[in-house]
Amino acid sequence: MRDPRDLERQARRLLMEARSPVILTGAGISAESGIRTFRDSGGLWEQHAIDDVATLQGFRRDPELVWRFYNARRRSASTASPNTAHRALAHYEQRLRRYGPSSADHGPLILLTQNIDGLHQKAGSRHVVELHGTLWGARCSECGIRTTPVPLEVPILPSCEECDGLLRPDVVWFGEPLDPERIDRALEATDACDVFLVVGTSAIVQPAAGLPYQAARRGVPVIEVNLEETPVTRYAAYSLFGKAGEILPELLSEQPS
Ligand code: OAD
Repeated sequence: MRDPRDLERQARRLLMEARSPVILTGAGISAESGIRTFRDSGGLWEQHAIDDVATLQGFRRDPELVWRFYNARRRSASTASPNTAHRALAHYEQRLRRYGPSSADHGPLILLTQNIDGLHQKAGSRHVVELHGTLWGARCSECGIRTTPVPLEVPILPSCEECDGLLRPDVVWFGEPLDPERIDRALEATDACDVFLVVGTSAIVQPAAGLPYQAARRGVPVIEVNLEETPVTRYAAYSLFGKAGEILPELLSEQPS
């Protein structure tokens, strides 16, 4: 049995020496900020039917219900603060910008998130790709024009200023493709990274879940931080089990205790 402290030290060294790391986060990183995850006990999908609030068909059936659901989620995200895990990632990005091996060949750290709560940006991370969209935007269901930011309480039902079509939340629902520009950036970063860190995701929703595997197939070490085993554990070079808010500050610190 390998000592967990040794594993953490080795994983930390990889992250400190990385030239172009990629990070993928999921709902687990925001759990310690009081935002509910999806699939854990008490998670959102236990209390709301995915078909009703997270599909285009559900929105077409009952747009009021869907807007009320996202207004409630915005209220909860607006009072949430980034936690130590979000902040550790923001510091790590700053550190790479300052001490990267050379600014010319040092690709910036890319933070891919499946979260729509905006907490990475609140913590100060700059290179965030919001794979599943954002709670803070709306998009016209007719002409596609985006409106950002939306108010905390979106009036029900909101309409597009350009064409009067019905606005929908600017998030990706089940059965919908990801924004092509965002997934292209994610794939490009994944193909160029030298270490891939996965934090707080059950890693079952594609295509995000396939990204760390794509890196691992190139021989890139994958480091996972989660409360429990996930499909990533099978191929991860390091799996660190525990709360992201406790593990990341140490894992990403320049001077570990
Ligand atoms: P899930 O709810 O599926 O998974 C949350 C993961 O976080 C689980 O693996 C937990 O073990 C882990 N976790 C919980 N608390 C943690 C903590 N404090 N520290 C570390 N890990 C913790 O959420 P996601 O994987 O993000 O998509 O879900 C992916 C996508 O499915 C979401 O973006 C959403 C959802 O349906 C859409 O709505 C399109």
